[in-house]
Amino acid sequence: MPIQLLGTGSYTPEKILTNHDLEKIVDTNDEWISTRTGIRERRIASEEQATSDLALIAAQRALKSSGVDASELDVVLIATCTPDMAFPSTATLVQNRLGAKNAFAMDLSAACSGFIFALETARNLLDAGRYRTALVIGAEKMSSLLNWEDRGTCILFGDGAGAVVLRNEEGSKGGLGPCILGSNGSLSELLQVPAGGSRRPVTPQVLEEHSNTITMAGQEVFKHAVLNMTSTAKKLLKQAEWEPSELALVIPHQANHRILEAIRTRVGVDKDNVFVNVHKYGNTSSASVGIALDEAVAQGRLKPGDRVMLLAFGAGFTWGGMLLEWRTPA
Ligand code: UT7
Repeated sequence: MPIQLLGTGSYTPEKILTNHDLEKIVDTNDEWISTRTGIRERRIASEEQATSDLALIAAQRALKSSGVDASELDVVLIATCTPDMAFPSTATLVQNRLGAKNAFAMDLSAACSGFIFALETARNLLDAGRYRTALVIGAEKMSSLLNWEDRGTCILFGDGAGAVVLRNEEGSKGGLGPCILGSNGSLSELLQVPAGGSRRPVTPQVLEEHSNTITMAGQEVFKHAVLNMTSTAKKLLKQAEWEPSELALVIPHQANHRILEAIRTRVGVDKDNVFVNVHKYGNTSSASVGIALDEAVAQGRLKPGDRVMLLAFGAGFTWGGMLLEWRTPA
């Protein structure tokens, strides 16, 4: 039975931090950030807003666009690497505030690939037949992991949330197709938050060193991001027997415009068929594919039967891709 995306939603905080604003905080400039990354601005959550607050609004919007009541949900999954707290999971907090009384809820962590990892997890739960309707959210307050003195990382990230509602929908056409997920923990040190977990709990020294914030070997990560997302895209197309020209839209994780261009040319997709919003939000990690998908829908970029590819790469390393055919209602 096809597993369909019934609707999408997203939320990004109101506060906009531009490249020019960053020039006043750290030794950087708009020209460097724009040309090296494509980012022009990003959204930053307020002090009062936690990841669950962002996730809740995206979820409410996805439920509304789906015409699904929270009580109909069987599963609530949140992909995040910035949970509100160690436990309970951010998903249980959102489940409660949504009133999704009949759902079980849990978090999933795969950094920037989290949204696709959660989508594939939810799809398999629904496919097995035990559950019918799932809410998948990617939500992050990345600003809570930034060292505002490190120009190599603080200019890259932003906050936000993206959500979709999935249903095992008898008689419909299209839906979620082949998916590839991968991980390589041997390269974990290239992109990490070294302290703040059980290995190195927060101490005055950790705070002094800022080692509870993101560290990244940018060029290495760039190289692996291009290699892994390109090969995932090619494998998926081969598996589905689709030509690159048949893709109506590729919706990749938004980390760096140069990464997107490198993948696009290697896979052989037209510029117009790759969705880009990195200039507005920067890298929102697990939230990025969900936000981009929702914006693509809002812009009328997807029509029934359209062939779509989702792609992501992140810390771990983790990577993933999924093909889908945009829903033709039953
Ligand atoms: O979500 C998945 C994970 N993340 C990614 O996919 C990100 C992958 N990496 C990247 O996007 C890029 O590597 C960066 C955008 C992080 C960096 O771009 P780059 O072209 O690889 O620059 P670089 O790190 O090689 O630095 C080049 C120069 C250096 O100066 P010197 O040593 O050549 O004098 C840096 O110090 O640019 C300098 N630099 C900056 N200058 C102004 C680094 N950051 C900045 C900055 N503003 N913000």
